[in-house]
Amino acid sequence: MLGHVLGWALNLPALLCLSLLSAVLISCTITPYTPSTVAAPPQVPGATFVGNHACSECHDKIHEGFHDSPHGRFYRGDEVQWASIAGCESCHGAGSKHVETGLAADIVNPRTEPQACLKCHVATHGEFTLPHHHRVLEGKMTCVDCHEPHGRNIHQIAGGLGTQQRDAVCIRCHKEQTRTHVFEHEALREGCVTCHNPHGSVNRGMLVQRDANLCLRCHAQVQTGADRVFIGKMDHTGLLRNGTCWSAGCHSAVHGSNFSPRLLY
Ligand code: HEC
Ligand code: HEC
Ligand code: HEC
Ligand code: HEC
Ligand code: HEC
Ligand code: HEC
Ligand code: HEC
Repeated sequence: MLGHVLGWALNLPALLCLSLLSAVLISCTITPYTPSTVAAPPQVPGATFVGNHACSECHDKIHEGFHDSPHGRFYRGDEVQWASIAGCESCHGAGSKHVETGLAADIVNPRTEPQACLKCHVATHGEFTLPHHHRVLEGKMTCVDCHEPHGRNIHQIAGGLGTQQRDAVCIRCHKEQTRTHVFEHEALREGCVTCHNPHGSVNRGMLVQRDANLCLRCHAQVQTGADRVFIGKMDHTGLLRNGTCWSAGCHSAVHGSNFSPRLLY
């Protein structure tokens, strides 16, 4: 645990350099979006860091649960130098002014400023700039639509049930894909992220792979003599040339079907 914490602390300069570098790369190569604050901590003009204890006075509930959260695990004691690296203020910016005034204007809220998260999560930032993505950087969605920052399970939404499954965050907005079907596709039991990158992807539909390989990971192709290709019990020779498994008219209902066990609408 200690080694983990120290390793990460020592790597912080490297992390920051990396974020600068990739900010430059991303803005040059992928989109015209130019992140200006990627490597800078959230800015609260004129404020200084105070440490988590100062927040507990008014936000007791959040403070209490925080040390079990993936981010809180790195926070050690109340030394102020940890506050900006792993404490409340690593996401919310320096808190001295807000502690005095109690005003929302004197603190950063990553719900409206995803850059507060992306300064550390550089790879995630890259994913959101790919051609097919959830529009978080555009301000249409937030990290909080899918992540609960303070509690034990960051892969649920705030106020969700403790037992909430990972994909439950998707159900709110994608009822069609998450409903139960007469003919289920067992692949969905492995979760949406088996096939989709939830942040973004170069592929249409935010798919992790763009072609039949998406499906062949689980549905092994069997080559029999004379170049015949079987998937399941059926000869697929030739079919694979017509398009992807889901766009060629064969298995259009990849999320499940009410009409056909072969996953068709
Ligand atoms: C003296 C009491 C007090 C202390 C100490 C305090 N807060 Fe607050 N905080 C408030 C109040 C009151 C609000 C509600 C402000 C509003 O809605 O205008 C608030 C709101 C917030 C918000 C939401 C802002 C928004 O955009 O709606 C955040 C984030 C926050 N506090 C973080 C912190 C952090 C981090 C600390 C420790 C550095 C802290 N607070 C310490 C009183 C306090
Ligand atoms: C990993 C980044 C992160 C850390 C660390 C963090 N927060 Fe937050 N905080 C957020 C985000 C994101 C929101 C917006 C949540 C929402 O709108 O549902 C938020 C919202 C808040 C709010 C206002 C909304 C609410 O739920 O009442 C308060 C107050 C707050 N945080 C206090 C704290 C305190 C105190 C700590 C440390 C014990 C802390 N935060 C640590 C990311 C963080
Ligand atoms: C100061 C740097 C920093 C900031 C700011 C930050 N994170 Fe993190 N985050 C980390 C580190 C380091 C880890 C790795 C934790 C681990 O390995 O257990 C992490 C882990 C995560 C994980 C994966 C946790 C898991 O166990 O699967 C998610 C999701 C995440 N952060 C989301 C966010 C969101 C959303 C925000 C903004 C509200 C945010 N982070 C802000 C440093 C940061
Ligand atoms: C549409 C829902 C959604 C949104 C919006 C979202 N995330 Fe995620 N995020 C996920 C899911 C689902 C995973 C788990 C991915 C997995 O297990 O492969 C994840 C994983 C992560 C991880 C762990 C590393 C990884 O990529 O697996 C980090 C860090 C993270 N998210 C940060 C963020 C930040 C920062 C934001 C906002 C800028 C954000 N996420 C917005 C759904 C989302
Ligand atoms: C807050 C609502 C919301 C949540 C939660 C959400 N999405 Fe989305 N999703 C959208 C919207 C809106 C679009 C349309 C794309 C856009 O923004 O232009 C979309 C589009 C998509 C697409 C199609 C992208 C394309 O290029 O056609 C996929 C796949 C997707 N979401 C998967 C997921 C998964 C997986 C999750 C859970 C990890 C999730 N979504 C959670 C709102 C949401
Ligand atoms: C077996 C792989 C697979 C799994 C698992 C999967 N999807 Fe998909 N999804 C696809 C394919 C393939 C497409 C079609 C992409 C295209 O249009 O090119 C798609 C498209 C989508 C779209 C765009 C609208 C549409 O229906 O064409 C959304 C939204 C979506 N998926 C959400 C989800 C959600 C939410 C989950 C988890 C409940 C999920 N998907 C699980 C393969 C999958
Ligand atoms: C994570 C693994 C996984 C992935 C990825 C996956 N599947 Fe499946 N699929 C299964 C399992 C398990 C079954 C049920 C057992 C079986 O019939 O092989 C199944 C069943 C099917 C069936 C019904 C077969 C029948 O005759 O009953 C079709 C059709 C199908 N999948 C198509 C696809 C397509 C198209 C894709 C790509 C978009 C895909 N699958 C991706 C695991 C997966």
